[in-house]
Amino acid sequence: MDVLTTLDLAEWNVAVPQNLRNDAAAAIESGKVLYFPKLRFALNRDEDVLLSPTVLGGGDKNVSYDPANGKIKGAVVEGTTAPILRAMMRRYSDYATRLVREIFPAYAPTLETARTSYRPAEIAGRKYTPTKDDTRLHVDAFPTRPVHGRRIMRVFSNINPGDAPRVWKVGEPFPDMAKKMLPQVKRPMAIMPLLLAATGSTRGVRSRYDSLMLGLHDAAKFDETYQRTSPQKQVEFPAGTTWMCFTDQVMHAALSGQFVLEQTFHLDAEAMTIPESAPVRVLEKLEGRALV
Ligand code: SIN
Ligand code: FE
Repeated sequence: MDVLTTLDLAEWNVAVPQNLRNDAAAAIESGKVLYFPKLRFALNRDEDVLLSPTVLGGGDKNVSYDPANGKIKGAVVEGTTAPILRAMMRRYSDYATRLVREIFPAYAPTLETARTSYRPAEIAGRKYTPTKDDTRLHVDAFPTRPVHGRRIMRVFSNINPGDAPRVWKVGEPFPDMAKKMLPQVKRPMAIMPLLLAATGSTRGVRSRYDSLMLGLHDAAKFDETYQRTSPQKQVEFPAGTTWMCFTDQVMHAALSGQFVLEQTFHLDAEAMTIPESAPVRVLEKLEGRALV
């Protein structure tokens, strides 16, 4: 199973030639992880104070930054550290956005730079309920944030100051997983999405697509046999590297590692070169109906 496609970019702000753009789009849309072994996100000297899990508030697993308004959530930082944290996250958000726009110019018209996250806690050994446990294979789908078929793309950089890699498992192709797991997914009553939106439990009304994706996320995480026996491959992203993928499509699990920055993007499935590979199109084909 070939899960990575390697690109040799060594700088965030470079011109990407057309042939490389085409290869990158074909690879990421078919479910590969694009891996940039030479693309380091370097910290400024004053940012070293951020390399500690103590910047996290109690109970939060990451710090989040909203590039739209500069607001930080999940951090407990004092005095001068707060602006340092914000500056690092803003810089990461800017770099990741510039890179994604450069590699995928076709995505630009519908591309939204969503939350940025900083993950300073060691993953291995943390205890979570199965649905929150990202050491289990899953596709990303979030209970409070319906996407209505829009894609979720994420850029990650391992900024570990030592040599600890981010260790992932990557699972089988999305259509294979969906065929196996869809029969286990319970369909919500039609009133449910409306109730959830009315009570403020979701931001907007969940589409059928959102309900199915959440169902697939949960079904895979709860299925011990699937976790153990489905096709999967372990990959390591060393300190100083960057990688990106459609996390709504790539079955992934994070097993260990500490100090990662991540930028989330949303874009329309129609902006893709192979729109048929979008989860919404795959699920619509399997279900035989429109889902958004
Ligand atoms: C995840 O998206 O499931 C976790 C990825 C990571 O933090 O490395
Ligand atoms: Fe995930």
